[in-house]
Amino acid sequence: MLIMTRLFETIKFRSETQDSKAIPPEKIEKLLKAEWELYRSQTSASAAENQIASQTLPLGVTSSFQHWDPYPLSIESASGPWMYDVDGRKMLDLSMGFGAMLAGHLNPEIIAEVEKTLKRGTIFTSPSPDTRGAAEILARRFGIDQVRFANSGTEATMYAIRAARAFTRKGGIVKIEGGYHGAYDPLSVSVKPAISAAGNSEIPNAVYDEAIIPGTILVVPFNNLVALEAVFKAHQSKLAAIVMEPVLENIGIVLPDDGYLEGVRALCDEYGILLIFDEVKTGLTAGPQGAAQKLGIKPDLICLAKSIGGGLPVAAFGGSKEIMKTISDGRFLHMGTFNGNPLCMAGVRAMDRIATDDALYNSEALNRQALSRIAELITEYQLPAHTVGFGIKGCVTWSTTPVRNYRDYKATNFELAELSWLWSINRGIITPPGLDEQWLISLAHTQEEIDLLVNNFEELACALRKN
Ligand SMILES: Cc1ncc(COP(=O)(O)O)c(C=O)c1O
Repeated sequence: MLIMTRLFETIKFRSETQDSKAIPPEKIEKLLKAEWELYRSQTSASAAENQIASQTLPLGVTSSFQHWDPYPLSIESASGPWMYDVDGRKMLDLSMGFGAMLAGHLNPEIIAEVEKTLKRGTIFTSPSPDTRGAAEILARRFGIDQVRFANSGTEATMYAIRAARAFTRKGGIVKIEGGYHGAYDPLSVSVKPAISAAGNSEIPNAVYDEAIIPGTILVVPFNNLVALEAVFKAHQSKLAAIVMEPVLENIGIVLPDDGYLEGVRALCDEYGILLIFDEVKTGLTAGPQGAAQKLGIKPDLICLAKSIGGGLPVAAFGGSKEIMKTISDGRFLHMGTFNGNPLCMAGVRAMDRIATDDALYNSEALNRQALSRIAELITEYQLPAHTVGFGIKGCVTWSTTPVRNYRDYKATNFELAELSWLWSINRGIITPPGLDEQWLISLAHTQEEIDLLVNNFEELACALRKN
């Protein structure tokens, strides 16, 4: 049993980078080859499933992120911190629906609340105490006056931008290079641009593909107030907002430098530009009130999804009454058939009861333990890596120097990241398919699962150092 007090809370965690010994690229290549062979030999049913699925779904998946070559795992069921694939393997889930499964798969309290609600109806498309109650929960937790519901993180960020544009009567948006905020066009710019197209690291190009029509969008590096001020100064008259995650969680975990977010807030105030925090990924995984309150910065608008709904497809955006008045006075229409449907509101209600301070602090302590133990192994085996964590999320970054922005991230060792991810998959541990994602210690994970994660990493470390 872990002894937890709130004093134990760690705001940000990054292990010291140590002396490391290089790992020869041929060795990584050889290990990767062996691991891909092992992958194929253990997952024939997933291969067959993907082949059939590809007849009706491009790539055999319904979100391109779910795909990897040669084919992804296909999952049949899940329970607690475990998933079961079509090959009959029991897999430890450390992805947990990117945070949507914060409460654990098949959490009985969520199921009971949804089942109870289902008996009253599926969708009303009318006002309801269910919607009002869930709005009150989010407003209280996240310290905002008003919210509106949506169905995905993409919609939440899209509507937050619309509110900012309506409020400022300006159209331009600033985003962070390497930041992901869903599929809305202005935010689909420079998500993971090729360095050859990205230009100067201080004044990055806005890079987008042919299907994107972004409008005025400017891209800045994370953790760089000088570059941000230059953009604000040059484009103030046309800029509505800057959209950012307070902690970047799309390229591993990139922590804000001390004073950076305070500086962003001050520049937004000085130049009259709204600050939108995308807390779709951080949210309750950062702490009981989200990342903004944890880090002590008040954004003008906040976007929520994933962790707030117990696994149901619910999202929200909100802020001060003054800004949300853009909806009340008709400056923009926020609509959606499924917005605030009772089943999703049941998810929000149950999640609010489950995500207590103590429960989240417990998971954070387990995460902190995993991060520290893996950092010790990195030191012991002199690996070119370090660990980074925030709230209940953690990752190994394959670089000896801290990653402060997208360009630093691009200089990390992607072969080692691939090997580490595949090594885990082959030994029954699922982390998200992107090589730059992070593990999530949900409320269903216990000491046993932390030991599995750490022991698995030690086996990899041994393999990397074996002659
Ligand atoms: C930070 C962030 N914002 C927005 C989104 C989009 O959310 P959704 O996939 O629910 O549309 C994501 C998705 O991963 C995200 O990570």
